[in-house]
Amino acid sequence: MTIEFQTVCEVGAIPEGEGRAFPLNGTLVAVFLRNGEYFAISDSCPHMGASLASGYLEGTDVICPWHAWKFCVKDGLWMDNPRSKVRTESYAVRVVGTEIQVEVPQPKTPPGTPAP
Ligand code: FES
Repeated sequence: MTIEFQTVCEVGAIPEGEGRAFPLNGTLVAVFLRNGEYFAISDSCPHMGASLASGYLEGTDVICPWHAWKFCVKDGLWMDNPRSKVRTESYAVRVVGTEIQVEVPQPKTPPGTPAP
């Protein structure tokens, strides 16, 4: 399956050690820059929906600004309990020229909806 990418911003728009949120195909995606590498996860915290892009980055983990749940920005694992099913989606990121491009999230379909 081919991954579809879309430009979210220019290189330089996300300061080192910080995140920014971008709307992408109906999903808010949080893009982080850590040690010169970009990572993208869903911006909405699985706990109560806070914006993870505004969380504090500790290594490659982001700490949710509301209740301090911690998620790995590389794979979306919930670092407080990595074996839990709780996690946030993660997306591929690439830099093309001066553009930061993120894997386009699949549209969310309600449970029970038949696949197209
Ligand atoms: S909303 Fe993120 S930890 Fe509660």
